[in-house]
Amino acid sequence: MSFADIGLIGLAVMGSNLALNIAEKGYKVAVHNRSAGRIDDFVREAEAEGLSGNTIAEYDLAEFVAAVKKPRSIIIMVKAGAPVDAMIEQLLPLLDTGDSIIECGNSLHSDTTRRFASLKPRGIGYLGVGVSGGEEGARHGPSIMVGGAKEQWHNAEKVLMAIAAKFDGEPCCAYLGEGGAGHFVKTIHNGIEYADMQMIAEVYGVMRDGLGMNPAECAEIFRKWNKGPLDSYLVEITAHVLDARDVPTGRPLIELIVDKAGQKGTGRWSAIAAQDMGVPATAIEGAVAARSISALKQERIKAEMIYGKPAYGQSDIALDDLEMALLAGKIVSYAQGFAVLQKASEENSWGLPLATIAKIWRAGCIIRSKFLDQMAAAYEKGDNVNLLMVPDFIDIMKKAHKSLRKVVAAGALGEYPLMCLSASLSYFDSYRQSLGTANLIQGQRDFFGAHGFEIDGRGEDLHFDWPPTLDT
Ligand code: 6PG
Repeated sequence: MSFADIGLIGLAVMGSNLALNIAEKGYKVAVHNRSAGRIDDFVREAEAEGLSGNTIAEYDLAEFVAAVKKPRSIIIMVKAGAPVDAMIEQLLPLLDTGDSIIECGNSLHSDTTRRFASLKPRGIGYLGVGVSGGEEGARHGPSIMVGGAKEQWHNAEKVLMAIAAKFDGEPCCAYLGEGGAGHFVKTIHNGIEYADMQMIAEVYGVMRDGLGMNPAECAEIFRKWNKGPLDSYLVEITAHVLDARDVPTGRPLIELIVDKAGQKGTGRWSAIAAQDMGVPATAIEGAVAARSISALKQERIKAEMIYGKPAYGQSDIALDDLEMALLAGKIVSYAQGFAVLQKASEENSWGLPLATIAKIWRAGCIIRSKFLDQMAAAYEKGDNVNLLMVPDFIDIMKKAHKSLRKVVAAGALGEYPLMCLSASLSYFDSYRQSLGTANLIQGQRDFFGAHGFEIDGRGEDLHFDWPPTLDT
């Protein structure tokens, strides 16, 4: 019997595409799925693509495990949460010391850290791997963020490097750190993804409600922008989404899609992680909140009846300002995402390589964009600072913040919401302001709770003898 180089359990869309990608790159992959029907489908797909020679389909879990070369690397691609734990429990009695489980779903990083820690003493390596790029990426080259057991990573390294997207020939796949590091990085990738998508949607709102543009006109602008500094996968697909026509009615599809956004949780996790560590990530938080408020459709309809239709009206925003505003907002959201990564790296002693992360996000993943190359270059120079302090981005922001300001002001006066763009602007304004207003917060805190304040040259934890308030 010829053994498989790697095993893969879970043949839903992402899993089967990853397995076909592995087979196509010349590695033999054993596959298994709980329901036999999915295995049959996979066998047919592999046959149709001429990849049967590199696949071994096993209907029995023990036979599947036995079909993989030792030390075994077994990818599991099942729904995050309890199904992952259940799968691990089933696999454990069948594995040998030195084998490893490579979990490629969108798992909560703390779950991954827990699984990594519990399997380590049992001699089983646990790798928590973030895979970005959707179905297409899984099939033809995703961005792969690896965390967990470093020794066992080397057993699967060749295969994962081969299936990853390539940027200028470099694989978008890297080992990033122990425990849940890979899944944490994927979570923050998704937080940035949420912010990026939300700001694009807000800009579409300005075009639609402020400038009175139709979907085809909006699409044209996004297509144009995709040739400039905003060049990115999300801007590219936005033009396609805006261009699509509903088949039965012939109307622009975008006008028929209900304005309620779904979310599976990764964006929220990144906002929670940021809050937990005290890292300001207002753009990511704004994007999560915007999705949540979008889901309150019935409430929004009632509120509009109470407050009246928004004024909207023609706005005099120039499209060039809109482009620069989106660029500024995006830079702020990426800056926030990287700041969260930096802090998490310190807190968990992961030693996250920020330049490598920016590099493996340059192709394959959903947030791939031209300026990630600039970000990678900045971190490569050792500038481990907030991106707003990096020379290339200082140059852009010095001009672009003015456009962001005009757009946010127009949104406020025109009565259309810019939750994420305005959050980005406020972050920028707070970050670049040497004298803020927290002196007043400190005064208030000391007033009601003797929490203390600092005075330059006199020391910290000082108190004032505040007068009693009239009503106490
Ligand atoms: C990716 C995506 C992918 C998935 C999101 C969608 O990087 O390929 O992020 O993982 O599409 O999880 O998340 P929501 O359903 O929360 O939008």
